[in-house]
Amino acid sequence: MKRIEGRVKVTGLATYAAEYPVENVTYAYVVQSQIAKGRVKHVDDGQALESPGVLAVLSCEHPPDLAEDADPELALFQRREVAYRGQIVAAVVADTYENARAAAAAVRVDYDPDDHDVSLSADHPGLYRPEVVNPNFPSDTQKGDVEAALADAATTVDVVYETPVLHNNPMEPHAALAYWDAEGRLMVYDTAQGTSPSRATIAKTLGLPPERVRVVSRHVGGGFGSKGTTRPQAVLAALAARQVGRPVKIALTRQQMFDLTGYRTPTIQRVRLGADGEGRLVAVEHMACEQSSTLVEFAEQTATPTRVMYATPNLRTGHRLVRLDVATPSWMRAPGEAPGMYALESAMDELAYAAGLDPVELRVLNDADAEPDGGLPFSSRNLVACLREGARRFGWERRDPVPGIRREGEWLVGTGVASSTYPTRRMACRAVATMRDGDVLVRVAAADIGTGARTALTQIAAGTLGMAPERVHVELGDSDLPKAPVAGGSMGTASWGSAVVRACEELKRDGKEGRADTAGEIEADAKLARHAFGAQFAEVRVSSVTGEVRVARLLGVFAAGRIVDATLARSQFLGGMTMGLGMALMEETVTDEEFGGFLHRDLAQYHVPACADATNLEAYWVEEQDGELNPMGSKGIGEIGIVGTAAAIGNAVHHATGHRFRELPITPAKVLLPRF
Ligand code: MOS
Repeated sequence: MKRIEGRVKVTGLATYAAEYPVENVTYAYVVQSQIAKGRVKHVDDGQALESPGVLAVLSCEHPPDLAEDADPELALFQRREVAYRGQIVAAVVADTYENARAAAAAVRVDYDPDDHDVSLSADHPGLYRPEVVNPNFPSDTQKGDVEAALADAATTVDVVYETPVLHNNPMEPHAALAYWDAEGRLMVYDTAQGTSPSRATIAKTLGLPPERVRVVSRHVGGGFGSKGTTRPQAVLAALAARQVGRPVKIALTRQQMFDLTGYRTPTIQRVRLGADGEGRLVAVEHMACEQSSTLVEFAEQTATPTRVMYATPNLRTGHRLVRLDVATPSWMRAPGEAPGMYALESAMDELAYAAGLDPVELRVLNDADAEPDGGLPFSSRNLVACLREGARRFGWERRDPVPGIRREGEWLVGTGVASSTYPTRRMACRAVATMRDGDVLVRVAAADIGTGARTALTQIAAGTLGMAPERVHVELGDSDLPKAPVAGGSMGTASWGSAVVRACEELKRDGKEGRADTAGEIEADAKLARHAFGAQFAEVRVSSVTGEVRVARLLGVFAAGRIVDATLARSQFLGGMTMGLGMALMEETVTDEEFGGFLHRDLAQYHVPACADATNLEAYWVEEQDGELNPMGSKGIGEIGIVGTAAAIGNAVHHATGHRFRELPITPAKVLLPRF
């Protein structure tokens, strides 16, 4: 089906958070901390207040009223302590954006700086074991005796992989527009991946009952996790609007986004694998070091995919965290799985070489028939089918496994493979379907963040009702609609779609209206391991002159239940794979060790793949029937595309060059250094 909002988007008519026309609007601009740790001694706003058009300066000199239990990342101007460089320490509200920005530069902030520590290392004395990792997994798991099994193994691999800080760069920067209506109700146009959870967070932060807040996000230009939690701009717009008694608009700059919208934690991961004489895994260990801020414990679930992937009698996984003087890490597409599977799937490639086995066959040989960690049966698992289908389409059987021997002029050529996985979950959701003049209106506070959620839900409703999709109208992106969970964790379609199906089923019975709440249905779900799987194949060409790595071909095959819409699904898989290509070769935010904060702060420095980098991508899926998921039989597809891609490309670079690069991204400088 064609994307419902495709036309308004390409004609520029789709309205994003910063674009809603409101009377009497004002603009806020933030002042950010210049130190990474210490205290704000004094904020001198005298000159700023006298600047043209300025209405107010917000800072810790006059802390605004906020709930005491507000998330520390959102508790603006409540404390004088600075937790990271770039933290918001003041904000100026003025009649124009330019006046606000000019006055913000005139705010003088005196600091009492302390020594800061912004460097993650595997031997950092502050590393500790968190109780749980996101969203609520135990930090560590242990089964059998890994040490004994490694000591007896025929082949072992003991390797360390590193991934850098990564930043989401959605095309639509974070923005919010807030005003208080005559009844004292707060209206926020925000860039949110979920208006219901955003409303809850904003209400909690301001100490308001949720019904006194309305959040609207009809169109969102990408999020990837960075809009999955409420970011400070929404709270700031609300506070500023309360103070000046007028609507306030705030649009973060691309540079400000690097400080204020979260990032993927850097990781240092040690993987130890042991295999018997046939290549069967006898021991797997995956330990991840990562960082959080002093404000909030955000513990990414980096080693959790290893609890799902391969059969082994001895398995140990764990996470170590250090609280640094940095901004709090946050969600980024496939949090945990993306960096974690990079390490595991690179190590599996190393094991294949060490054991003299084909990397596809090694994975097939070690396929699991129950979840290796907990022993739960899978609702469905078709990793092997993906590997086989991918190998066939890619032409894997023609591959000579010897690394570093294929040369075409200056170019070294190689191929690599990796597995993908991502959990399949759903969350409680409500929806209402109503008959109107022969058409059906479906209302649900879902979010379309560029995925095509409107279109997918329209098809799900039309299919349930047995009606033409043209006669079904889906309304989403508004917290006044029936409560719905976030577009995140690849759960959107499964969660919202379940409620839409139930509401439409009831409408069919009732004739006028159907209402659904899936909380009970989800609670009754059988206890099973539910995951999507996939296989990624990459062909790379590495220039022996410049060190540049070109991805000549990237092919993914996925087993993700029933695919609701082929066009939308293909875009999700390809988008994820493109982001994985960026992770493999270019994306990296360098931390400023001396001053704190980040050295990379814009798209000139933080490189993402352009069309010219992603020229030959293919995504396919295998038929998968799974009756244990949701009424659609679908698994989430938003994130699995990124998982495994970086490993497949890294493994191909090894096959091309004969050298193993264990620190992402694999940049020209790193490629040239050891080889040529
Ligand atoms: Mo995604 S990182 O679950 O928004």
